[in-house]
Amino acid sequence: MFNLSFSLSLSRNIGIDLGTSTTLIYVKGKGIILEEPSIVAYQKNDNRVLKVGKEAKFMIGRTPKGVYTIRPLQYGVIANFEVTAEMLRYFIKQIFSRYQFIKPYITICVPSGVSEVEKRAVSEVAYECGSRRVFLIEEPIAAAIGAGLPVFEPMGNLIVDIGGGTSEVAVISLGGIVVSEITKVAGDYLNHQIIKYVKENRGLFIGDLTAEELKISLSKRNDISEEDYKEDSFEARGRDRLTGLPIKIELTKNELKEALYDSVVEIASTVKLVLEKTPPELISDIINKGLIMTGGGSLLSDLDKFIQEQIKIPVFVSKEPQYCVAKGTGEALENFDSHSRVLIKTSRSR
Ligand SMILES: Nc1ncnc2c1ncn2[C@@H]1O[C@H](COP(=O)(O)OP(=O)(O)OP(=O)(O)O)[C@@H](O)[C@H]1O
Ligand SMILES: [Mg+2]
Repeated sequence: MFNLSFSLSLSRNIGIDLGTSTTLIYVKGKGIILEEPSIVAYQKNDNRVLKVGKEAKFMIGRTPKGVYTIRPLQYGVIANFEVTAEMLRYFIKQIFSRYQFIKPYITICVPSGVSEVEKRAVSEVAYECGSRRVFLIEEPIAAAIGAGLPVFEPMGNLIVDIGGGTSEVAVISLGGIVVSEITKVAGDYLNHQIIKYVKENRGLFIGDLTAEELKISLSKRNDISEEDYKEDSFEARGRDRLTGLPIKIELTKNELKEALYDSVVEIASTVKLVLEKTPPELISDIINKGLIMTGGGSLLSDLDKFIQEQIKIPVFVSKEPQYCVAKGTGEALENFDSHSRVLIKTSRSR
């Protein structure tokens, strides 16, 4: 233990949030130094990687024949091992060249409750990328540490991390998860609901990127008057369902709300389910401290207010929610001695 902790103190260590939508890398003393979409663009005939990250995301829906884009993570877990390894190696190489790392220690997050096989896949990817030693951390715990919650105290901390692939709700006490639930109703699902709504109600086919842009752009302006709320709109471009011709239409914030209503009810129900299973002693802490929201999806306009109405306890969106998991992952490794309890140790299998 002493040797490991000493070695860690001398080495450059990195925390990675390997997310379905975004990969973030945190470096001790520097903070988050890489934020890239978890996307790879490939040439079909020879499987050659063409672009990774932002440049690959831009290619979604715009690729010529023979080129395809892959999101190697689905619902928070690795769906394609080779492509994930290739993507992560590419990202780590960028960091290496900037900081001259020699075999870093890596902490990387996994959704709570994933199988041993899925955990092994994540740690192997990090070893493949040149890590000296890999630690895993459960995503809700990393999110709570990153949000500054007292996870090691004997008290209930209720957190919901709304990412691209999953929304995870957990109660954490004494450094462990007491109760948790996970749903696939998260950012990607919301994008699909928007595409469906626009097709059925406005007769327009739009792509994934347009749906996401619409969601984010209409979520940016909070605290506006009721009048502005109705009028606040986004210009969506797509293909007319009947004529097949390109058209543009205005979509309002109210329409976004309508499109996502069932989804936000589902997220609130998942929180309720966790509350129903939480031991009474911890419930009293939660009533006082409320629910903390993290993950990019928690920036959805008025989602916090909606959940608060549903669960009748205060809801707070943490500061920079999309960075909490990455920060927590890095901080756990930085404070190894006090945080080793939440780090799952791994060893290389081959
Ligand atoms: N302002 C915003 N309003 C609504 N949604 C947003 C906003 N900003 C980002 N998002 C959504 O947040 C999601 C990405 O969040 P995050 O980066 O936390 O996910 P992830 O960690 O990659 O996914 P997961 O944790 O499920 O593996 C995307 O679906 C994105 O559309
Ligand atoms: Mg995440």
